[in-house]
Amino acid sequence: STAPASWDKPLEGKVALVTGAARGIGATIAEVLSRDGAHVICADIPAAGEALSETANKVGGTSLALDVTSPDAADVLAKHVKERHGGLDIVVHNAGITRDKLLANMDDARWNSVIGVNLAAPHRITSSLVKSGTLNEGGRVIDVSSIAGIAGNRGQTNYGASKAGVIGMVHAEAPELAKKNITINAVAPGFIETAMTAAIPFATREAGRRMSSLLQGGQTVDVAETIAYFASPASNAVTGQIVRVCGQSLI
Ligand code: NAI
Repeated sequence: STAPASWDKPLEGKVALVTGAARGIGATIAEVLSRDGAHVICADIPAAGEALSETANKVGGTSLALDVTSPDAADVLAKHVKERHGGLDIVVHNAGITRDKLLANMDDARWNSVIGVNLAAPHRITSSLVKSGTLNEGGRVIDVSSIAGIAGNRGQTNYGASKAGVIGMVHAEAPELAKKNITINAVAPGFIETAMTAAIPFATREAGRRMSSLLQGGQTVDVAETIAYFASPASNAVTGQIVRVCGQSLI
């Protein structure tokens, strides 16, 4: 096949969902996908409040109050999409949380909530969207893993397990989704400067920055542009891949 005539708006006519879009990496993903021509459904928990509608307004998209862990999340989403757009082309599972504690104090509540948001929810939603036929032929699923799921971090057994789980899930879902001409890939960001990492103690934050061979923290746009590549026709033949963003890990 030949190259597209123009790369100005590679996602023109596409409908994208970004979870956790109210702030941080998710808000920048919404901006970049919208710049590339997609209509972006910006989803986040009801508590995200005004921040979510601000993102949606900024990118000319739609806001959707959606807790990805709620049992009917996929149904609510499928209904929203079917009524307004017919189907979905791009799904970015960006919503994520940390509940850090050293191993001896890692209680079930922390373990379950992190696995629930970061791993179980993307799995349940992708599975349901495929079952209900909401995800269009040629669709793209993009998950957000983390360097913590590859290298490991003190105090993050729950988070590391969830993000390593995302990698295994992507590898397993890729051949199944390929049958429907849908690709699935993931980014594994290193230390990215957001509200999530601003909450980390100063010394740990500095160590996080030095962990990258680029010797600095990444920006949300670095992650978003890699996701835009996975969403675009430039990656038609790419599936089941995990791309680290913000340098190799030095640990
Ligand atoms: P953030 O905390 O700034 O934003 C996360 C967003 O997800 C928030 O708006 C939050 O309300 C939303 N969210 C949380 N639980 C949700 C739920 N149940 N349903 C719907 N939305 C929910 O975090 P940040 O830094 O932007 O992270 C985004 C993703 O990138 C996460 O998956 C995170 O694990 C991952 N990541 C972040 C890194 C970093 O250095 N900031 C490094 C590697 C991965």
